[in-house]
Order: sequence, then structure tokens, then C-alpha cells
Amino acid sequence: MARIAVFGAGYAGLVTGACLAEIGHEVAIRDIVPEKIEALRAGRAPIYEPGLEELLEKNRERLRFTLDVGEAADGADFLFVCVGTPSTYSGDADLWAVWTVIDEIPAGMRGLLVMKSTVPVGTGEKVRATLDAQGLENVGYVSNPEFLAEGTAVHDFMHPDRVVVGAFRPEDADEVAALHEKLETTIVKTDVASAEMIKLAANAFLTTRISFINEIANVCELVGADVVDVAKGIGLDHRLGSHFLRAGVGWGGSCFGKDVSALKQLAGNSGYHFQLLAAVIEVNELQKPRAVAKLQKHLGKLRGKRVAVLGLAFKPHTDDMRESPSLVIAARLVAEGAEVRTWDPVADARGLLQGAQQCESIAEAVAGADAAVIVTDWPELAEADWAELRKTMRSPHVIDGRNLLDPEKMRALGFAYEGIGRPTPPFGALPETEEPERKLRQ
Ligand code: UDX
Repeated sequence: MARIAVFGAGYAGLVTGACLAEIGHEVAIRDIVPEKIEALRAGRAPIYEPGLEELLEKNRERLRFTLDVGEAADGADFLFVCVGTPSTYSGDADLWAVWTVIDEIPAGMRGLLVMKSTVPVGTGEKVRATLDAQGLENVGYVSNPEFLAEGTAVHDFMHPDRVVVGAFRPEDADEVAALHEKLETTIVKTDVASAEMIKLAANAFLTTRISFINEIANVCELVGADVVDVAKGIGLDHRLGSHFLRAGVGWGGSCFGKDVSALKQLAGNSGYHFQLLAAVIEVNELQKPRAVAKLQKHLGKLRGKRVAVLGLAFKPHTDDMRESPSLVIAARLVAEGAEVRTWDPVADARGLLQGAQQCESIAEAVAGADAAVIVTDWPELAEADWAELRKTMRSPHVIDGRNLLDPEKMRALGFAYEGIGRPTPPFGALPETEEPERKLRQ
């Protein structure tokens, strides 16, 4: 059992803290936001993450929550840094929160500082020099990047593909590796710079795969191929693998955008133009408005048309809308003069999307609509009774931005259905739903 202080009660900090407690460690989680700490003390998770609240409850005895650095660090063997490293306007990582934590480390502290936050390569060297200058030579430094994906973060921590530990001294790497001994996994021990690069390169590669398949999808649309079959055919090659080959309206989330741009900036600041990453980012930006262009192709001018945007979170099983394609698509529709109705089972865009109306149910969002756009692959949308939904729509257009639904079935139900990168027969004239207003009232 180790005593661990976790700085930052965001997704990474809370999941890491709760899981470290689950595998037997004593954990103190510190954040600067009083409301978060109050909620945690009252047994509530301030974020939506499957399994997290249960884990916090189950490990109450081994978890403390505090606003006070000294209290968190008191007696700790490890200081885990889990603070946010957002993008600055230039695209570089903003390390303000990281440096604030370093400044706050109490004098005379011993133990290991473990960097979980994603930081540019070279940050560890700078932190080491700063710790030394602060008289904290006895605090070791280890880079231990997190690879948690939202929605599956608890599972990802408990069953990691690998744990990466980058250290200046081998004994520090051994100590951090030992913290994870209860997990069945491969420990990759390396130097600090390589550990930092592993995290950035992993996210850059994942986004490259998605942007690649999205470009293949765009070409499929022009030549009559089906990207879903193409991705399957590619993915069965064991050298390529099947993950992260789902074409759609683009990748989002709090990590991908900032990490890819941080790596591109890091390369640029070091004198290298990372051409491929520049394209990966650009392809993603262009992918989002394509859903709107598809609507325009079918509906003509969008002014006055009612469009349901189904799904707001950047992916299912989270309420997180950071960098979500939904926001770009919905805002674009509003700008085109459409009457936008949104739905999401957990994400709430009321404060974010001016001019759009958030609905409580899929049925409410699509009622009277000229079209629906699926932006997030929520299971609720796959399981919805589309035959019934169709009856309430003014005209049954569906743009499936995640290739979630079966095109044959949707067309058999009378929908003018278009996915991403899939063959689409000409829609022809669509019958208007009879008296949609009457059906709405029923
Ligand atoms: C990601 C990384 O997976 C994780 O390792 C890292 O620590 C943080 O960033 P996350 O942001 O939670 O995790 O989401 P992820 O599941 O990776 O999906 C990111 C985005 O890519 C979503 O918008 C998703 O819809 C999109 N995506 C994913 C695709 O468009 N196609 C795919 O094939 C996979």
C-alpha cells in the first residue's frame, strides 16, 4: 500500500485516484474548485463516467478530498499530477496548471512526482531543473502518461494495454511500476522524453487513422464504394488492425485536438514541419461541415427548415461536449437559418448553443423535422423505433454521421437515408408525411 496525493479532480485525476484506491492505495485528491470537493465529500462524482461513483463509494475508507495542498501531500509517497493541459491560441500546450502544482509542493517534501497530464516532450527536464532550483532534490520525477478513454476510463485503468513509465533513475521507474503490480499488463520502462512522446504519438496515430478512413469515405462517396466494408477489409489485416477505422463526422474530445496540435507545435518549435499532422487536423475540420452540405444537397436552402441534431457528446457514454463535432454542426445549421432541435441522453448544450432548442427525447427532437442528423453513436439511437419516428417527421431525411443505422432497413422504412462514405441511391420524390401536425398531437 502506498500513500498517494492526486492533484486535479478532472476525468484523469478522479478515475486515477479512485482506481488507485481500488487496488489498495491510500489516496488524497486535491482540487482548487470548492464545489467539486464538496460534491466528492458528499459522495457525488462531479463528472459522468460509468462506474466512477460506485468506485468512489466502495473505496470511501481509502479516499480523502481536499482543497489544501499541504493536507493532500502530507505523508504522501507519490504526488500524481492530473491537471488539465489545454491548448493555447497558438496550439501549444498550456502548462499553467502544471507549474502551479510544482510551485505549491511543500518544502522538505520527499517521494516521487508522477506526471499523468499530457505535456510536451522536454517538460520533464524542465520540471526536474525547477524542482532542483526549489531545493526539492529529494523529489524524484516520473512520466506516467494516462491513456484513459472517456466512457471506459475505469475499465481502461484496471485493464490497461500497457503502463508507460519514463524516469531519470531506474529505481524511480521501479517504484511507479510497483504501484501497478495488481494489474495484469505490460510495463514499458523508458526515459522521460520517450514516455512523453509515447503519449503524444499514440493520440496522433489514432487521429491519423480516423482522418485517413474519413478521406477514404469521402472518395468512396464519389466512386460508389462502401467505407464500412472497406474498413472491415482493411482491419482484418493483422498488420493494420480494426480499431479506429470508423468513418464519421470527425473526431472530437478534450484530448485528441489539443494533443495532436501540441505535437505539431512541438515539432514546429523544434524546427520540423509535421506535414502529416497538419493534414490530419485539416481533414477533421473539413469533415464536420460535410454533414451540413449533405443536408443542403437534399433540402436546398436550410432557412426555416427544422433539423434534429441527435447526439451532442463527442462520443457515447459521456456528457462531455468538448471539441464535439455536434457543436460545429449545430452552430452551422443555426447560422444557415435552420430551426435546430437537439437531443442527447446526458450532455446539455443549453448554455453553449445559441438558437438551438434542447429536447428531452428523440421523439420530441424529430417531431415535425425536415431532417435528422445523427452526430453521436448513442445506443438509444440505434434502438429507437424509426418506423414510429418517421410518422412524425415533416420529411423523412436522415443523415447518419456515424453510420450507426442499417441503410437497407432505413430505406425500407421510407427514409431518405445517407451515411458517411456509403453508396446512396438517388432519393427521388419523397412523399410528405400526411398531416404531421395531427400525428404530433396524438
Ligand atoms: C482519446 C484516446 O483514445 C485516449 O487514449 C486518450 O487518453 C484521450 O483521448 P477519448 O477522447 O476519450 O480518448 O475518446 P476516443 O474513444 O478515443 O474517441 C475520440 C473521438 O474519435 C470521438 O469523437 C469518436 O467519435 C471519434 N472516433 C473514434 C471516430 O470518429 N472513429 C473511430 O474509429 C474512433
